[in-house]
Amino acid sequence: MTLASRRPLVAGNWKMHTTLEEALALASTVAGRCRTVTEVEVALAPPFPWLVPLAERLEGSGIALGAQNCSQFERGAFTGEVAAFMLTPFCRYVIVGHSERRALFGEDDAVVAAKLIRVVEHGMTAILCVGERLEEREAGRTLEVIERQLSRACQDLPAHRLGQLVVAYEPVWAIGTGRPATPQDAQEVAAFVRTWLGRRFDEGASRALRILYGGSVTAGNAGTFFAERDIDGALVGGASLDAEQFCGIVEAARVAVTRRTKEA
Ligand code: PGA
Repeated sequence: MTLASRRPLVAGNWKMHTTLEEALALASTVAGRCRTVTEVEVALAPPFPWLVPLAERLEGSGIALGAQNCSQFERGAFTGEVAAFMLTPFCRYVIVGHSERRALFGEDDAVVAAKLIRVVEHGMTAILCVGERLEEREAGRTLEVIERQLSRACQDLPAHRLGQLVVAYEPVWAIGTGRPATPQDAQEVAAFVRTWLGRRFDEGASRALRILYGGSVTAGNAGTFFAERDIDGALVGGASLDAEQFCGIVEAARVAVTRRTKEA
C-alpha cells in the first residue's frame, strides 16, 4: 500500500495561540481554501475552549477537529482536566504524547499509554507523537528511542484498534526551530515505525496506517516529505497559524497523492 491508498492527513496544531476571533477567522479561511481538496484530510487542533465554536463554524466543511491533549483518567475529581469522552462530540482526533507535554508537563510513557487508550475507547483516533532529542540522535540512538516510545505507548492497545492510530514522527530538535529533519531521515524513521507496528500488531493494518512528519514543516518544504513513501502527511505547528502556509502544505499533499495515484 502506498500513499495512493492512504489518504494523507495534514493536521494543524495551534498550541496555545489564537483569540476566539482569530480562531474563527483562521478556520473559515482554511475551510474556504480547502473546499475542493477531497484527496487530503485536513484537521485543526485549536485550544480546548475553541473546539465548540469551531465545530459549529466548520460544520459541513469536511475539516476535522482534533484536541491537543486529554486526561489519562476516565472521569472524576481531576480539577482542570478534560476527559476523552467530553471531546468525542467534537473531535475526530486527539494528539497524545507531544514532546511539549512530555518535556514541560512531565508526561511519561505510561501516561501517554493511558491517554491513548482513553482516546480510542471513546471512538476517536489518537495522533501519537514520537521523536528523539538532539543528544539522542547524535548518540545514534534515534530508532531505539522511537521503539521504546512506541512499544510503551501501545502496550495496552488491542490490535483491532490500530485503525484508530496515526503516528507522528516529530524529532524534538526540529519542533519550532526552523530546522526540519531531512526527508530521508524522516522516511527512515517512518519506515521503521511501519515495520515495527506490522510485527507487533498486523501487517495489513500497519500498511494502512498513516505516519506523519512534524517539525518545522512549511509550504516550501512539505512536498519533499510527502514524496517519501512512508510519509502520509504532516503535523504542523507554527505554519498552521498562517492560512497561506497551511493551505500550501495541504496543496503539497494533494500534489503528492495525485502523483502517486498516477504512478500506481
Ligand atoms: P512546528 O511544530 O511545525 O512549529 O515545528 C510542530 C509540532 O509541534 O507539532
